[in-house]
Amino acid sequence: MVANASVTGSPIFLEDGVADFERDVAKVLETIAKGARVISKELSFRVGLTENLNPFGEKQAELDVFANDLFSKVLLGTRVVGQIASEELQKPITSSLESSKSISVAMDPLDGSSNITTNNPLGSIFGIWRGPLPQKGREQIASAFVTYGPTLSITLTAGMGVDQYVEAREGENAGRFVLSYKTIKLPERPEVYGFGGSRNTWIPEVERFVTSLEERGLRLRYGGTFIGDYNQVLRRGGIFSYPALKGKPDGKLRILYETAPVSLITEAAEGYSSNGKESILDIEPKSLTQTSAFYTGNRGLVKELETEIAK
Ligand code: F6P
Repeated sequence: MVANASVTGSPIFLEDGVADFERDVAKVLETIAKGARVISKELSFRVGLTENLNPFGEKQAELDVFANDLFSKVLLGTRVVGQIASEELQKPITSSLESSKSISVAMDPLDGSSNITTNNPLGSIFGIWRGPLPQKGREQIASAFVTYGPTLSITLTAGMGVDQYVEAREGENAGRFVLSYKTIKLPERPEVYGFGGSRNTWIPEVERFVTSLEERGLRLRYGGTFIGDYNQVLRRGGIFSYPALKGKPDGKLRILYETAPVSLITEAAEGYSSNGKESILDIEPKSLTQTSAFYTGNRGLVKELETEIAK
C-alpha cells in the first residue's frame, strides 16, 4: 500500500526559485519533494527483498517497489504528467492527457538499492520532458535527484543553474526544503574520482586515465550508489564514471533513468558528461532501457578522457 504523500501548507521549497519555473514543471518538482519526504521516513522500515525482478533482471528490494509505486501515484495525481517511465516498470504508465503536450517523467525511484542493508546513502533520479519518451537528454525541461543521507536533499535544474535544497528537520520550517546551495558550479580544482565496475574489466584507456588521476593526487570516492558518489564530484570537483567495460562497451547505467537527468545537472553546473565520444545529452536513445558508457564531472577531465579514448 502506498503511503499518503499529501502535505499540508505550501510552499514546500523555501526561497523558492522553483516557483519561477513553468507551472507544471514546478508542480512536478514539488510533488517529487513531498514523495521523497515520505520515502525518507520509510527507509528504516522497508529493508527486505521481494521475489520480483526488474526489467534489467535485478532483484527488486521492497523499497524499490514502494518508491516506484509512491512516485508513480503522486506524479499521476498532479494531472500534468502524461507518461511515467521507470527503471522498475516493464512498461511506462500513461494517463489520459494529450501526450505531445503533457509532461513525461523518466525515473530511477530508488538508486543504490544494494546499499539498503549497508546503511549507505540512497537516491532517486528524475528526468522531465515534454512529450512521449524516449527523447534526447538535451530535450529535458528539468531534472532532479534526491539524496537520502544524513540529510534529505534535492538537487535540481531547469537547465539554467543548479540549486540544492535540504529538508529542515526542526523549527517553523520543519518538513520544508531550504535552499542550501545556490547556483552550484563544479569547483575548478578537481579533488575526487569514482569509477564503477572493476579495474580489470575497464577498457585500457580508462585504466590509464585513472592511473593518471591517482598520480595527480585525486582521491577515490566510491560507495556504489550513483547519486551519493556523483554528489561528491558535484560538490568537490572531479569525475564520476561507470565506464565502457571490455566486452560491455555500453557500461551499465541507463540513459533515460540515470545518466541524462544527471548530465543536465552537470552541464548546468558548467561540467560535461560524455559516453566517450559525445555529450550524453546528444544521444538519441532508441529504447527506454538503453545504457551507455558514462563519464561526468569537470569539463577539462571528461574532455581529456574523450581525447584518450579517441587515440
Ligand atoms: O544503477 C545501479 C547502481 O547501483 C548505481 O547506483 C551504482 O553506481 C552502480 O549500480 C554500482 O555498480 P557496481 O556495483 O557494478 O559498481
